[in-house]
Amino acid sequence: MVAVAETGFAQNAELAKTPPMGWNSWNCFRLNIDDATIRAQAAALVSSGMKDAGYEYVVIDGGWEGFHDTNGIFHSNPKTFPDMKALCDYVHSLGLKIGIHTSPGPTTCAGHEASYGHEKPDAETFAQWGIDFVKYDWCSGDEVYKPQEMQAAYRKFSDDLKATGRPILYSLCQYGMQNVWQWGASVGGQMWRTTGDISDNYMSMMLHGIQENGLEKYAGPGHWNDPDMLEIGNGKMTEDEYRTQMTLWCVLAAPLFAGNNLTKMSRTTLEMLTDPEVIAVDQDAAGVQGHCAWQEGPLEIWTKSLADGSTAIALLNTDNHPMTITADFKALGLPETIHARNLWRRKDLGTFKNNCTVLVPKHGSVLLKVKSK
Ligand code: GAL
Repeated sequence: MVAVAETGFAQNAELAKTPPMGWNSWNCFRLNIDDATIRAQAAALVSSGMKDAGYEYVVIDGGWEGFHDTNGIFHSNPKTFPDMKALCDYVHSLGLKIGIHTSPGPTTCAGHEASYGHEKPDAETFAQWGIDFVKYDWCSGDEVYKPQEMQAAYRKFSDDLKATGRPILYSLCQYGMQNVWQWGASVGGQMWRTTGDISDNYMSMMLHGIQENGLEKYAGPGHWNDPDMLEIGNGKMTEDEYRTQMTLWCVLAAPLFAGNNLTKMSRTTLEMLTDPEVIAVDQDAAGVQGHCAWQEGPLEIWTKSLADGSTAIALLNTDNHPMTITADFKALGLPETIHARNLWRRKDLGTFKNNCTVLVPKHGSVLLKVKSK
């Protein structure tokens, strides 16, 4: 994105060269969080092997807030988060980074204290605690800002964060209003939510993914479209549906924030979240966001160009029963003869001419990596 390079947001690229990865408390715990919960999740991120797979940020979403004191200093809830600095130190001691949530409005979406009128001191407090990531969530922003002031409100907090001198990844959350993908990077964001909140069901998850189609030109190293966090392991989707979320998010070069309870996950959930060949598609150095290259009835084929000249191909079946999908290489802009590897199965499938056909389970996906032979 030329505008980004020209306006000197080089720091963006350093902070998020590839889509950020981590864990966020919201999808699983909602407001029921405290110091012990965050410590346990951070420890599990390491002991499970997720850190080694690339998950780096532990993000405390809404629910940590206390009050601004008479000097305007933000305090965490003294009962549930008695010492935020100590918590940040602990998370850092594990080799991880830590994130936090606040709003440009006077209150968060849950009605707790937020940053309106306290932006500069709050940025300084976060930096002093050792925060590495801020999710700035519009919530009550409408109470104090006109729609045309939204961009300035986001830019202000970005400037306040930068002024602290601490590298802090800036995650915009305002549900895609005002086509945020067109200006999110120019106000200092490394990622921005493109939609409202995801739910743990197939319809919601697919809508969040599909709505990214056409936005691919706004994503790249340092600035990413965010279709919201992963629901994998939260229990309300089937294994194939969860695998589809991972497949689609990786082809979208989406930020990968696990949203499940890491201390209680099944082996299947862990394997799905940490599959190295699938994550490599998301984290590919070229930073290309994939797009829907073919669609017929309930069948979709998404493609993503990779740095080594190969292509990731996600074949999705949104129907209620298994379907075969034929990938026509010409229609997808691929060479006539290709070599294909099934990434989830870690299996080379051999060489194909003109097309290949795969059987895809109900609501499932197959993820191939293909290169010319
Ligand atoms: C929503 C946001 C969610 C979560 C929640 C916390 O506005 O989209 O991801 O942060 O607020 O209250």
